[in-house]
Amino acid sequence: MVTSIVAENITKEFTLRYHRTFKEVTVAKVRGHKTSDKFNAIEDVSFTIEEGESIGLMGLNGSGKSTLLKMINGVMRPDKGTLLTRGRIAGLIATGAGFHPQLSGTENLVLNAAILGMSERELKRKYDDIVEFADLGRTLEAPVGHYSSGQKARLGFAVAIHVDSDIFLADEVLAVGDKPFRAKCMKRMMEIRDSGRTLVYVSHSPASVERMCSRVLVLEKGRLGFDGAPKDAIHYLKYDAPDDAQNDLSDAEIGNDI
Ligand SMILES: Nc1ncnc2c1ncn2[C@@H]1O[C@H](COP(=O)(O)OP(=O)(O)OP(=O)(O)O)[C@@H](O)[C@H]1O
Ligand SMILES: [Mg+2]
Repeated sequence: MVTSIVAENITKEFTLRYHRTFKEVTVAKVRGHKTSDKFNAIEDVSFTIEEGESIGLMGLNGSGKSTLLKMINGVMRPDKGTLLTRGRIAGLIATGAGFHPQLSGTENLVLNAAILGMSERELKRKYDDIVEFADLGRTLEAPVGHYSSGQKARLGFAVAIHVDSDIFLADEVLAVGDKPFRAKCMKRMMEIRDSGRTLVYVSHSPASVERMCSRVLVLEKGRLGFDGAPKDAIHYLKYDAPDDAQNDLSDAEIGNDI
C-alpha cells in the first residue's frame, strides 16, 4: 500500500486576542488583564492515510478541522511534529478563498485554475466542463464580490474538481450549495473516490459522511478523539442521537439527506 498523508504528533498553536483596539489593549494592560492567550487548535495529532482512502473529518465547531485541512493543503505549517503528503493536492478548503472580488467569475475561473496548477492547454480542454458544472449562467460575467456564498462555492468547486490531483480536500463545500448542486458535488466526489484518489471530506452531515467515507477521524478540541469506522464515529459524536430542538424536522430539512 502507498501512503498518501502522514501526520506525526502535529500541533498548531494560535493566539486568541481578547481586545482589538489600541485603547482597549492599553486599558486592559493598565488594569493588569490578559490581552491574549495561546492555545493549541491542533494538539499532538497523529494518523496515516493510505492512497485511495476516503476520510471523513468530523468534530464540533472550532475543533480544528479546517486548521488540519489547511496544514494538509500546505497553506499552514504545524508548529510541532511532521506532516507529509504525497502528490498533487486540490480541493476547496474555504469558499471564496483565492478569489478576487473585483474580477468577474470567468476571470477568477482562469486565475484560480492557474493557481491550482492547471496549464493553459488543460484549461482550454476543461473550460466548458467547468462552466457547465458551475452552472452560473450570465452571473459568470459579474464581479465575484457580488456573488452569493452559494455562487462562490459553485465556482470554486467547479474549478477544484477539474484539477488533476492525488489528494482531494473538501471543507464543507456542500453546506452553502442548494440541493441539486449538493447532489452533483456528491456524485463528483464519489467519482474521485472511486478513481482511487485520496479524499478528505469535512462535514457535519452524518448521512453524507457514511455514504462517502470508509473511515472517519473525529477531532475534539484539537485532539484526535476517534479514528475508525464511520458508523462508530457518528455514534461516538452522538450525531445519531435525536436532536431535541429539531426533533420534528425531517432529515431533508436539516440537510442530512446527502
Ligand atoms: N488564524 C487563526 N488565528 C487564531 N485562531 C484561529 C485561527 N484560525 C482558527 N482559529 C481558532 O482555532 C480553532 C479551530 O478552528 P477551525 O476553523 O479549525 O475549526 P473547525 O473544526 O473547522 O470548526 P467549524 O466546524 O466551525 O468549521 C477555533 O477556536 C478558531 O477560533
Ligand atoms: Mg471549519
